Amino acid sequence: MSGGTSEYVPAPPVGAARVAGGGTGAVKSWAPVPVLPPHEHPAVGADQWPLRDSLELGALPRAASCARLHARLVVQEWGLAALADDVELIVSELATNAIVHSRSRQPGGTFTVRAQLDRDRLRVEVCDQGGAWHTPTRANADDQNGRGLLIVSQLASRWGCEGHSQTGWSVWFEIDIRAPGTGGR
Ligand SMILES: Nc1ncnc2c1ncn2[C@@H]1O[C@H](COP(=O)(O)OP(=O)(O)O)[C@@H](O)[C@H]1O
Ligand SMILES: [Mg+2]
Repeated sequence: MSGGTSEYVPAPPVGAARVAGGGTGAVKSWAPVPVLPPHEHPAVGADQWPLRDSLELGALPRAASCARLHARLVVQEWGLAALADDVELIVSELATNAIVHSRSRQPGGTFTVRAQLDRDRLRVEVCDQGGAWHTPTRANADDQNGRGLLIVSQLASRWGCEGHSQTGWSVWFEIDIRAPGTGGR
C-alpha cells in the first residue's frame, strides 16, 4: 500500500452529491498528450512537468484489462514503477465500475482514463457517461461486491468523484509521489 489519508466514502463524495443535485456539474477537459516510446524521449526531468496521458475505450467486458495494463505501462514510463501495482488495481476497480454501473455500459458506450503527473503527485481519472449513482451500504463479510471503492480509499492518498449524472462522472484518485516507498523523486 502507498499509505494515505483517505477515509472510505462509499458513494460520491459530498461535492459530487451537491453537483448531482443541480450544480453546474462541469467535467474537466484535458488535452490528451501521448506517451512516446522510451527511445523517443529522454528521462523524465524537471523541465517536463506535468505529463499527461489519455485513453478512451469502448466499455466492453475486457476494457478494464486494457485500462489497467495501459495505466501500468504509463506509470512505468513515467519512472514510477513502484506504484504500478497499486495504480493497476485502482484503475481496474474504477474502470470496472464505469463498465458495469454507469451509462457507459449501454451499447456504444465509452469511458476514458486520464493520467497526470506533476512534481508531487500522480492523478488518474476514470470518466464515464454518467447515470444514476446508488449509494451503497458497506459490504458485509459475506458480500462478494461492494469493496472496489474501499480498495481505492485504502491505496490512494486522496480520491473523489466529480461530475453529473447527465454529463458523466469523473472518479479520480491521487497518489503523493514524494512519500517513502512510492519511488518518487
Ligand atoms: N462509475 C459509477 N457510476 C455509477 N455508480 C457507481 C460508479 N462507481 C461506483 N458506483 C456505485 O458505487 C457502488 C460501490 O462501488 P464498489 O465499491 O466498486 O462496489 P461494487 O462495484 O462491487 O458494487 C456501486 O455498487 C455503484 O452503486
Ligand atoms: Mg466496483
